[in-house]
Amino acid sequence: MDKGSTKTAPSTGNNEAEVAEKPSEPTLYDKFGGNVKCEAFMDKFMDGVMKCPTLSTYHEGIDEPTMELLKEKRVCYMKYLLDGSKFYIGKDLKEVHQPLGITDEIFDTWKTEFLKHLKTMRPNIKVLRAISKKVTDLREDIVVKMPSV
Ligand code: HEM
Repeated sequence: MDKGSTKTAPSTGNNEAEVAEKPSEPTLYDKFGGNVKCEAFMDKFMDGVMKCPTLSTYHEGIDEPTMELLKEKRVCYMKYLLDGSKFYIGKDLKEVHQPLGITDEIFDTWKTEFLKHLKTMRPNIKVLRAISKKVTDLREDIVVKMPSV
């Protein structure tokens, strides 16, 4: 199709109705800094995870391409969690994490590591608190459910 033939919407004759769409509010993901910041954060965070004797055991023997893929998935998930996208097309978090046997203590170690690296990205304090809350709220999905005795 030649560029000159681009279709335009027919006029309604109602100027108010033709006012440009209201720009959407920046999401928490935007406020954090979007893809660039999130990818930089994930590199630092996962380096920290792999240096942590407790957390690294869960990723033992993982080769570089698999680690890069995992980082990409986690960036996509963060985007979803922070309202930057409507869907996460990966696996259900509960399904992935329940078989790993992650305890509350391990989740806390993870969260401490996560927040340590998040702070180095110098987000605004409100943004930091909002992200921290969203991650804390995932505890139920990540920590293994012990059968009640
Ligand atoms: C709020 C906390 C966490 C979030 C948001 C999170 C997020 C994710 C995501 C998005 C994936 C990829 C899922 C997919 O394949 O589509 C994943 C996989 C994985 N996570 Fe987590 N995770 C969290 C906590 C943890 C913790 C505490 C551990 C262990 C210390 C852990 C270990 C793993 C492992 C080993 C995989 C790969 C599983 C596999 O591919 O079989 N995660 N995580």
